Amino acid sequence: MQVYELLEALVKALSNEAIALRHDLLESVLLASQPFWREMPFRVERPQWVNDYPDLDDALQRMPAERLGALLDDNRALVEWLGDRVAVPGYGADLLDVPALPRETVGSSLRSAWGVPGRKRAQIEAFAAATASLKDPVLEWCAGKGHLGRLFSLTHGVSVTSLEIDAELCRAGEALASRAGASTQAFVVADAFSRDAAKLVSGRHVMALHACGDLHRDLVVAATTQGSAGLAVSPCCYYRLREARYQPFCTSSRLELSRDDLHLAVTETVTAPGRGVRERDRAAQWKLAFVAWRETQTAAGYQTFKPVPSAWLSQPFAEFISRLCEREGFASPPSRALADLLQQGERRFELMMRRSVVRLAFRRLLELWLVCDLAEPLISHGFDVSLGVFCDRKLTPRNLMLRATAPA
Ligand SMILES: C[S@@+](CC[C@H](N)C(=O)[O-])C[C@H]1O[C@@H](n2cnc3c(N)ncnc32)[C@H](O)[C@@H]1O
Repeated sequence: MQVYELLEALVKALSNEAIALRHDLLESVLLASQPFWREMPFRVERPQWVNDYPDLDDALQRMPAERLGALLDDNRALVEWLGDRVAVPGYGADLLDVPALPRETVGSSLRSAWGVPGRKRAQIEAFAAATASLKDPVLEWCAGKGHLGRLFSLTHGVSVTSLEIDAELCRAGEALASRAGASTQAFVVADAFSRDAAKLVSGRHVMALHACGDLHRDLVVAATTQGSAGLAVSPCCYYRLREARYQPFCTSSRLELSRDDLHLAVTETVTAPGRGVRERDRAAQWKLAFVAWRETQTAAGYQTFKPVPSAWLSQPFAEFISRLCEREGFASPPSRALADLLQQGERRFELMMRRSVVRLAFRRLLELWLVCDLAEPLISHGFDVSLGVFCDRKLTPRNLMLRATAPA
């Protein structure tokens, strides 16, 4: 392929060949940029790149909070900003270009929206608008209360099987369906990992809105082994895996990812002031104060610790740190050291927040790589695959959708 053909494939549509190409471009950039995203500033106070790019660190430490917030709110702007300051071959905002999927008007049905919170309703309607051409019969994978299936049943009259493991959600979904008159929707209480669930994929068009980790991965495998008619999936929670390490579908892949790495793909930043954010920040400051104290007690380097019970965070700092020290097997700090530790926690937190910006400039690249990898089994089994965005990021940052139609 000539360079201009490659570029054209990139901007036009992400279908089979373009997905495979994008996968390879993303992988080479992610491999080359590991020093920027592997180390988590919460654990490594001074990531390697700080030594290599002191000006970058300086720019981050001096950046006004509003500018920082604006960059974190806009993945493209963030990648452009970092791309101007680091030398990573191929790194640029065009890697993030994913076309919006064509949308059809879906008769919005008020009845289908009973019991659905506003934002969820908008996500469901956007998902449905991008999948309006899905044909009978439809399987809704990990359906929750089956809001999406109910909308399909009411607006298209198609037969919808909503599969969900939680019997209570199924019962609530059945009640909503019957109240709305969605007579073509039926619920099946089943584990999506079971053989029976995989069999339901056969001959059906499957839709999966926000299916986590192995739930979306197993669906794609089932689609290829059980003869699905096609699917539409918007993945989320990529880190929810049985295995501690990600197993790429692309056998040629050289990217090795742990669960911590996978968390990066879904790390969002809330910068608006508010009680929840202040509490989250304070929790991080206190944990970093504990880390600072621990460093004075052991030379073992950073070690993860179990989640801290939220009740401890509503205690005074002295109580918090002494409980955590007791649990982790360290002596508690003397009371005269507490004020200094708190200050250290606050200082480390500020540093960590600003240095994290560099890591976050790779989150969307990683997410896109994961979704391109997810497409691989479908592509290699001859499905027509397309990858696009089904709604604005403000509605949900998990707005990527993989669509696939089985070979004739
Ligand atoms: C993130 S929610 C998405 C629900 C729905 N699709 C939506 O977007 O509103 C994931 C759903 O998957 C269900 N789930 C989790 N593990 C499952 C399994 N092994 N089999 C079937 N459903 C499962 C959960 O109970 C939950 O309802």
